[in-house]
Amino acid sequence: MTDLRGALRATRRRLEEAGVPSPRVDAELLLGAAVGLSRTRLYAEPQRVLSAEEARRLDSLVTRRASREPLAYVLGEWGFRGLTLKIDARVLVPRPETECVVDRCLALLRALPRPDVLDLGTGSGAIALAIASEHPGAQVVAVDSERGALALARENAAAAGLLDRISLVRGDLGRAAPGARFDLVVSNPPYVRPGELGSLEPEVRDWEPKIALVGDGLHRLVGETASALLRPGGSIVLEVGDDQAPGVAAVLTELGFAGGRISADLGGRDRIVEAQWLT
Ligand SMILES: C[S@@+](CC[C@H](N)C(=O)[O-])C[C@H]1O[C@@H](n2cnc3c(N)ncnc32)[C@H](O)[C@@H]1O
Repeated sequence: MTDLRGALRATRRRLEEAGVPSPRVDAELLLGAAVGLSRTRLYAEPQRVLSAEEARRLDSLVTRRASREPLAYVLGEWGFRGLTLKIDARVLVPRPETECVVDRCLALLRALPRPDVLDLGTGSGAIALAIASEHPGAQVVAVDSERGALALARENAAAAGLLDRISLVRGDLGRAAPGARFDLVVSNPPYVRPGELGSLEPEVRDWEPKIALVGDGLHRLVGETASALLRPGGSIVLEVGDDQAPGVAAVLTELGFAGGRISADLGGRDRIVEAQWLT
């Protein structure tokens, strides 16, 4: 028989031995999920004994995490800004830097009461749903090439009560939706160069969909698409890799965008490039 304190200690040790980068927090979240308690409640009842079913559930979750499956996939959900999104192996786990992308989008949309927004490569729907939930007038078209990602994004939109302001469309980053015009095009396209994949953490390298990670030159493709779809004065906002911001800003200038601006994420890394389409 194991109590919560003992289970927490043993879980943390298993995760440490597996090389998991944040074993303490992960142990708290996995134990909390197994027994149905919040992280803080775990510490309020340290001597509560786990039932056999809870112990089995915990073992199954920890085994998955110890194989370096991303925590978000093991938990089945992940926080993104104010939303709790369902997340699984069909989609990229939404990242903190992408929350900063949404900040820039909302700043650019602030003066527009009913903006039309296009999210290219929506995955779980993180960016599209955050914009729709934080800008009450925004209408968002969310595009992805993958059926699985779109199905999950639809579930997330329904759970957030946002299906009336989100259109989910199967399509390609490089192909324009005929007739539609937008005030903002946002994208976090795949931008890990093929040769860099091997150097990434196992959680990313071995588990997240390659179609969501690996890409070269897709910022240009998104820029070309946006140039055909933006209204005059509209904006493009792109998430970029660590060393890519100056190059992507130059590409946007070359495509005819103006007012290029590079912003940092909360860690101070230049990860967001934006510009305006004036004509
Ligand atoms: C880096 S993930 C971003 C997911 C989500 N927007 C986020 O920020 O968490 C890129 C997404 O683009 C999609 N994608 C990759 N290539 C694509 C293409 N050629 N056309 C449309 N979507 C594509 C992938 O399926 C994936 O969902």
